[in-house]
Amino acid sequence: MTTLQEDTVIRKLSPGERIPYDLLLLADPSVIAINSYLSLSELYVMEQGQQIIGSYVLYTNDPEEVEIKNIAVNPAWQGKGFGKILLQDATQRARANGFRRLVIGTGNSSIAQLYLYQRQGFEITAVKKDHFMMHYQEPIYENGIQCKHLIMLEKRLR
Ligand code: COA
Repeated sequence: MTTLQEDTVIRKLSPGERIPYDLLLLADPSVIAINSYLSLSELYVMEQGQQIIGSYVLYTNDPEEVEIKNIAVNPAWQGKGFGKILLQDATQRARANGFRRLVIGTGNSSIAQLYLYQRQGFEITAVKKDHFMMHYQEPIYENGIQCKHLIMLEKRLR
């Protein structure tokens, strides 16, 4: 458990606790996609008092690489630095667990996320062309741009 301010902690969600789908759906509009990785992942929540205000999901790709499959902050708390803190927490945790690489994917239209991840030391390593067209039934638009391609970014941990 990471204690930030007096009443803010980041901790792993225990089995049987309510899954904060409202948050997870902010980052991934498909419940089917979320459920496909959730059962094989670890879900971390940021709590302030009794309220969950942010979360991230870690999925092990291989013994050297772990991926942030989902990261979200409650809209009322966005833009206050909590997303940055979640990324830093995920980085510390991945490094402490001996991984070499932390990866994250985002859409070509997710301008703020691309900014945030690169500011936090992630570099673009691959573009999965037409990923969102192939895997999501409804078209996704953000910032007036159609989200078609999945951009993969990586942070080297050692
Ligand atoms: N446009 C441009 N920059 C933005 C921005 C926006 N809409 N929102 C935040 N930023 C910048 C901040 O200015 C800050 O930059 P700085 O470090 O240079 O000051 C940086 O991004 C970090 O902002 P922060 O407040 O830590 O981000 P956040 O708490 O809002 O969390 C997300 C970021 C992406 C997790 C959050 O916005 C969110 O939950 N979005 C919806 C779900 C989502 O898209 N998840 C990611 C899927 S890939």
